[in-house]
Amino acid sequence: MAVTRTFSIIKPDATRRNLTGGVTKMLEEAGLRVVASKRIHMTREQAEGFYAVHKERPFFQDLVAFMISGPVVVQVLEGEDAVSRNREVMGATNPENAAEGTIRKTYAESIEANSVHGSDSEENAATEIAFFFKPEEIVG
Ligand code: CMP
Repeated sequence: MAVTRTFSIIKPDATRRNLTGGVTKMLEEAGLRVVASKRIHMTREQAEGFYAVHKERPFFQDLVAFMISGPVVVQVLEGEDAVSRNREVMGATNPENAAEGTIRKTYAESIEANSVHGSDSEENAATEIAFFFKPEEIVG
């Protein structure tokens, strides 16, 4: 399996509860390495642009409002088969369906306040990484 990269966001519900370290520990224990990280407060334009693929969905406006409601930590994660590995440790989008031991089962409050985002494909990972990071900000 090749070493690849994925993109992760620790969402406002997690930063509010001081869970940046707790979430990152679970990512690291799953074999992922943080090769870039920054704490930012997203602008509305950034959140709308990042989630543009969901703009026709009924939850879009609420999702954007939530993502700009507090700081987030955007990260680039590296590891073997990073996209799948990250999705495995995150668990299902809805924490009610997430498996035991996953980040969302452990920490998420609801389907919206679900603590983490992770890219769903290598192609989207590359796009999402480039949305927030310059190449020189990623140090593997
Ligand atoms: P995320 O992986 O960041 O991608 C889109 C987000 O929309 C998703 O996680 C959820 O937090 C949020 N969301 C809110 N409501 C829904 C819903 N009904 N179905 C899917 N995603 C939702």
